[in-house]
Amino acid sequence: MIEVDHIDVAIGPVGILHDVSLRLAPGRLVTVIGANGAGKTTLLRTLSNIVSPRSGTIRFDGRPTAGIKPHLLARAGLVHVPQGRQIVPGLTVRDNLVIGADRAGLDAGTIAEGLEREFARFPVLKERQHILGGNLSGGEQQMLAVSRALMMRPKVLLLDEPSLGLAPQVVTTILKALRGLADDGLSVLLVEQLALLALDTADEAHVLQRGRVALSGPAAELRRDRAVIESYLG
Ligand SMILES: Nc1ncnc2c1ncn2[C@@H]1O[C@H](COP(=O)(O)OP(=O)(O)OP(=O)(O)O)[C@@H](O)[C@H]1O
Ligand SMILES: [Mg+2]
Repeated sequence: MIEVDHIDVAIGPVGILHDVSLRLAPGRLVTVIGANGAGKTTLLRTLSNIVSPRSGTIRFDGRPTAGIKPHLLARAGLVHVPQGRQIVPGLTVRDNLVIGADRAGLDAGTIAEGLEREFARFPVLKERQHILGGNLSGGEQQMLAVSRALMMRPKVLLLDEPSLGLAPQVVTTILKALRGLADDGLSVLLVEQLALLALDTADEAHVLQRGRVALSGPAAELRRDRAVIESYLG
């Protein structure tokens, strides 16, 4: 469970997020949609403590996260798939999957189980397990980034524009996988610019406009109000 209450975030003197609040419960897929520069990445970076809020509180499973290092948050189950994927290009698919979990101290049995699970989720990763990450297509790299995050056995998964630069079919595969993860009990926070696809996948949605939550509600309701979405997203 993530509870964000009235956070303000500034980078230097410039205010980026203003009075942002949201809830992310187990088994829910919540999307934050917004145009270029709305503050979506900054929100996820703040949830991961890469950036500290100037005011307001963030709780993870009831405890304030202020001051906890990002890698320790990840170990506790709050795992972030950054914008642009950031897999390790010079390591094989398999090593990309294993290395984070290994560094986080997961035992060999859990890692082996995780590999089987992720290879079943995205069979192309099994086929390409000995290929270098850098030689994968964009879509395969995004699947790898998601699977690598899942190897950490997260409770909460934060995803920053997983659709970026990918073909529609791959986007659908990835969004379906995220929906399945939420249905299995994971909390998923999906940041997207592809508003309609995100709304089709999510339970709840927040529209971020110039650093403020301009609109919130059940995703299906926002989905019906296409004119409103277009006016916010430009
Ligand atoms: N490190 C930084 N230094 C200065 N300004 C920044 C920094 N990071 C973000 N910003 C500014 O904060 C605002 C929000 O940026 P952010 O990257 O969070 O938006 P975004 O919604 O993720 O955009 P995109 O859809 O392009 O990824 C933008 O005006 C951006 O220029
Ligand atoms: Mg961004």
